[in-house]
Amino acid sequence: MNMQRFSGKVVVVTGAAQGIGRGVALRAAAEGGKVLFVDRADFVAAVAAEAQGAETAGFVADLETYEGAKAAMDFAAQQFGGIDILVNGVGGAIRMRPFAEFEPAQIDAEIRRSLMPTLYTCHAVLPHLLERGRGTIVNVSSNATRGIRRVPYSAAKGGVNAVTQSLAMEYAEHNIRVVATAPGGTDAPPRRIPRNATGDSEQEKVWMSEAVVQVTESTFFKRYGTIDEQVAPILFLASDEASYITGSVLPVAGGDMG
Ligand SMILES: NC(=O)c1ccc[n+]([C@@H]2O[C@H](COP(=O)([O-])OP(=O)(O)OC[C@H]3O[C@@H](n4cnc5c(N)ncnc54)[C@H](O)[C@@H]3O)[C@@H](O)[C@H]2O)c1
Repeated sequence: MNMQRFSGKVVVVTGAAQGIGRGVALRAAAEGGKVLFVDRADFVAAVAAEAQGAETAGFVADLETYEGAKAAMDFAAQQFGGIDILVNGVGGAIRMRPFAEFEPAQIDAEIRRSLMPTLYTCHAVLPHLLERGRGTIVNVSSNATRGIRRVPYSAAKGGVNAVTQSLAMEYAEHNIRVVATAPGGTDAPPRRIPRNATGDSEQEKVWMSEAVVQVTESTFFKRYGTIDEQVAPILFLASDEASYITGSVLPVAGGDMG
């Protein structure tokens, strides 16, 4: 495969230190993009440097704060002379529990992790896209909008879908496309940065395995996807090949529509 779909484009990817975000950022760089890898993890610059021969940089920011989101977008525009594409990868369920077992502060934490970074970066990137007169935002949602053991995360991703549709409608007249994918369960190497920094209890591991069974059984293929199977549709939607697609949430979950 020798595509250069992002040649001359500035691409910002959040959550780029590992997992799906890392895969998206490295492939966008391999296809000619100038890529800012944004993450809370301090090793994100080393990940950006893995894209040998490409123009990349790392930027450390906490995207659960508006200041972090704005700093990241402003840095990308200053470093690379504008922004063409934003891919919002930050997110992920912190805890798996039946809803009645969530403490109120844990509900808030899920919304902060999986909705607010996308809402903040979508707002912070707009001045840069408006200045360009065009642009694309790809949000990484989830099939967990219909799933068990993570209702607050489901709500956050339902919010991401709503942001995608409404923002697309509002900014189409400015040549800005807003789209999303809704990944299903995705196999990944062990996480360098855990979703839950305090670790999972034995009970939480049981609840997690119940969610894994539900997610797997909800697919037609009865298996998880791979990171590459998530990266490809995200970058198709980010590219000009998808120029007539906006406001759509594409399920990428082996038949599970979320
Ligand atoms: N992995 C899956 O099975 C799966 C399934 C459906 C949807 N998704 C979605 O795909 C996206 C990527 O998932 P993943 O499993 O690759 O993620 P991951 O948990 O492996 O990595 C998330 C990255 O985001 C960074 N991050 C977290 N909070 C941050 C913050 N406040 N500010 C800046 N960076 C922050 C982390 O440091 C990490 O590098 C997420 O939005 C997730 O909800 C994943």
